[in-house]
Amino acid sequence: MQTYEDWKKSNWDRAHKEQDVSALTGTGIGGHLHTLKVPDLVKPDSSILCIGVGTGVWLNEMAERVAEVWGLDVTPKASMNLPKSIKFTCNPKDLPKNHFDLALSLWVAPHISNHDLQEQLNSVVPSLKNDGVFAMHYKEPIDPNLPLDNREGANDEYKKAFTATMLRRRGHLSQMVEWAGGTVSKTFGDNISHFYNIVEAIAHIQKSKTGGKLL
Ligand SMILES: C[S@@+](CC[C@H](N)C(=O)[O-])C[C@H]1O[C@@H](n2cnc3c(N)ncnc32)[C@H](O)[C@@H]1O
Repeated sequence: MQTYEDWKKSNWDRAHKEQDVSALTGTGIGGHLHTLKVPDLVKPDSSILCIGVGTGVWLNEMAERVAEVWGLDVTPKASMNLPKSIKFTCNPKDLPKNHFDLALSLWVAPHISNHDLQEQLNSVVPSLKNDGVFAMHYKEPIDPNLPLDNREGANDEYKKAFTATMLRRRGHLSQMVEWAGGTVSKTFGDNISHFYNIVEAIAHIQKSKTGGKLL
């Protein structure tokens, strides 16, 4: 059976090489800002971190509007269509500290394991300025009693990553953010899919004034 790690490496390399829009989504800048509830937070002098490059169309549009754009993606192939003015890394640990006004992530967290998401949060939260915001889309189950097996290596981990159905409860996400030294300042849960029994939730994350808990 394919594991999450096997899938992650092969799927995203292939999708970027083939510019497979069904896997990469291809959301433009308007879709990112509207869905992530941050249309007013993009200013000409902003430094912005774009997580999950996809087709790259939104980073190109962003680079025309703001002072500095960084891209973070799991595969180097995601940087193929980016202009040189956009800084790019695959390693969250390369991100500068206290640097970004805004970090954005749409249609990424539901594809990634808790381990990878925690690693990302551990670097993205410290990369924010004190008043910076990390706006992240994730999925919550509607049913509070639905059993969730979030262990690394759980049987259906690959299937959940493939179908973008890594679900997280609100309390669990807050805990992960807290471990990374942040706090969830706002959660938007107005986009509900009763067909899939999920909430397409948006969390606005900021640096915690008191610092995070030790892992
Ligand atoms: C479904 S696409 C969404 C792209 C874009 N945000 C959009 O909405 O059009 C997911 C993107 O996240 C990237 N990705 C997958 N796992 C990641 C990870 N652990 N860290 C950063 N990027 C990741 C993929 O390579 C792909 O570019």
